[in-house]
Amino acid sequence: MGFESEVSAKDGLKLRCENIKLFLREPLAKGVPHMRDDFDAFVEKLQDQIFDETRQAFGEAGFQRWRNPLYRGPLDGADAHARVTGTCGDSMEIFLKFDDGRVCDAAYLTDGCGSSTVCGSFGAEMAIGKTPDELVDITGDAILEKIGIFPEEDRHCAFLAAETLQEALNRYMIALHKEK
Ligand code: FES
Repeated sequence: MGFESEVSAKDGLKLRCENIKLFLREPLAKGVPHMRDDFDAFVEKLQDQIFDETRQAFGEAGFQRWRNPLYRGPLDGADAHARVTGTCGDSMEIFLKFDDGRVCDAAYLTDGCGSSTVCGSFGAEMAIGKTPDELVDITGDAILEKIGIFPEEDRHCAFLAAETLQEALNRYMIALHKEK
């Protein structure tokens, strides 16, 4: 059945599973007990399968970040912010807060896929503690290197995160220059 292709669309499938679960929980609760058990077992198995595939695609570090996307924005009081839309149609936002010439806090937002979430999260993390000169070194390749294992077809997500970070830095530098 068309099961394989659905499973590869990890985020969508996870969402669908949750929706199906919610939608059916009530009727099943009133229904035959073994049907409810079968359904829960099916959903659990499906979730395990999704987790296994995601772990394989992103490696352990990326998988953990996919499950728990640290540095998700927005960031109140940010000194710089940029939003860039990639050729895929997804957008990435990066927020940077500076203190004493270094990034003291950073955050990302994206309306894109799980891969862009992982890249935005690692990009924001890599920015923290860096000077503007050091931020320039955060490229798409640097983000991919930091994550380690990453799906080949989603590499552009890392470049979108890096481009957005560089745009936020650019805006910060322009604003800084104007102040002088
Ligand atoms: Fe568009 Fe990931 S697929 S940013």
